[in-house]
Amino acid sequence: MSNQPIGIFDSGIGGTSIFKEIKTLLPYENIIYLADSKNAPYGNKTEEEILQLSLKNVKLLLQKNCKLIVVACNTATTNSITYLRKNYSIPFVGIEPAIKPASLQSKSKSIGILATKGTLSSTLFHETSDLYAKNVTIIERVGEGLVPLIEAGKLNSDEIRELLKTFTKPMIEAQIDYLVLGCTHYPYLIPELKKILPEHVKIIDSGLAVAKQIKTLLETYNLINTSLNSPKIQFFTNASVGILDNVLDKKFSVKPLKF
Ligand code: DGL
Repeated sequence: MSNQPIGIFDSGIGGTSIFKEIKTLLPYENIIYLADSKNAPYGNKTEEEILQLSLKNVKLLLQKNCKLIVVACNTATTNSITYLRKNYSIPFVGIEPAIKPASLQSKSKSIGILATKGTLSSTLFHETSDLYAKNVTIIERVGEGLVPLIEAGKLNSDEIRELLKTFTKPMIEAQIDYLVLGCTHYPYLIPELKKILPEHVKIIDSGLAVAKQIKTLLETYNLINTSLNSPKIQFFTNASVGILDNVLDKKFSVKPLKF
């Protein structure tokens, strides 16, 4: 079973920020990535819709024989991972906003979080922030409109810049010293965010922590790939391949697939 692939899915290109961390930490693993860009953004959908989309992606990854599935999307994790873990026997690794490290390390006791509506309104997010951020003020903002612009490749556009200025203004006024990126699409905005935020504000996301958790789980379940064949990395999208191509190293190719 150890040479079976790791499956990753996201509503589009966001999960590639996690893919890159996984590839660095676990270079010998076979990987299948599903970009459900046709249904992006997930962030404004209902909990039930997000669950159904997650189930569709999981079923496809299981057909492709994945040994572990990474829900590389905060919105899908916070709305569906409890169900997925209850109903399937393979391990699932999800991603949640890094509220805990930001709260513990914050000196100003004021942190910002930028995430989708689906994540910020989820029960799982509220449980995590109630648990770890009792003594900290959290300035939450829904990154309304960001994901469609990122999916459209408009990373350096005036539209993105204006939205980011609007979202971070109340955070800067509240003197945050940490900004948590609670959506896997947002690490692509770090260069623009750095131009807007005061220099001392640290930007954190959970990508590396997720990759470490995957490694631990693979070791625990004896699932580390020991085959000497060079790893097979496959990307599938149900929208234009160019969207993914733009953010990936040229050595990877993206195939269209209906799902
Ligand atoms: N990348 C996703 C996340 O981490 C979903 C964004 C969306 O589709 O709205 O939340």
